[in-house]
Amino acid sequence: MTADLVLRPALASDIETIISIESRGSISQFIRPWRHERHAAALENRNYAYLVAEVGDETVGFAIFQEVLSTDRAINLMRIAVDEPGQGYGKTLMRLALRHAFIDLGAHRLWLDVFAENDRARNLYLGLGFVEEGRLRDAAQKPDGFHDLIVMAMLEDEYRALPDAS
Ligand SMILES: CC(C)(COP(=O)(O)OP(=O)(O)OC[C@H]1O[C@@H](n2cnc3c(N)ncnc32)[C@H](O)[C@@H]1OP(=O)(O)O)[C@@H](O)C(=O)NCCC(=O)NCCS
Repeated sequence: MTADLVLRPALASDIETIISIESRGSISQFIRPWRHERHAAALENRNYAYLVAEVGDETVGFAIFQEVLSTDRAINLMRIAVDEPGQGYGKTLMRLALRHAFIDLGAHRLWLDVFAENDRARNLYLGLGFVEEGRLRDAAQKPDGFHDLIVMAMLEDEYRALPDAS
């Protein structure tokens, strides 16, 4: 049940679960998995915020923010993923992540970039009220060549105008 999904700060002991999610074939095409050491260093860094999504005892996804200490209050949602895409967890996770960014972290602007061909993620973000701000042509390289990234963002006022914002 997506209603049972909760977010909590990640611990070092969650890193292997995060890596196992981001390494799955359906996910690693849109997220470049990091090695354990890189996650461990970021988790210790106050400029990052690591959250895991749980349903009961099970970790079903995660969200990682960076630039949390931005003096512009412009926070980047660096990566988000669920272990079973298409089950509705992503939307719930993303709503809670928005709340964390704007209420707990005090973001003025929450931005992200997404592969242009990642229709599921783009639809998720658009459906939640993100605005597409531009296309970075050939900005990321994958084994099959260069790909465009779409920059999307939501501002504090836009978040507070959402029906389910708190
Ligand atoms: C992106 C991701 C987090 C979304 O989570 P999810 O659980 O799969 O998404 P949900 O089932 O909650 O669906 C959310 C929205 O996505 C869109 N969506 C879902 N399936 C879709 C599909 N097959 N095609 C296009 N859009 C789709 C819809 O807008 C949907 O909202 P709706 O149900 O109100 O129509 C998840 O798919 C994922 O982990 N993908 C791999 C990693 C990734 O791409 N991360 C984002 C990098 S920027």
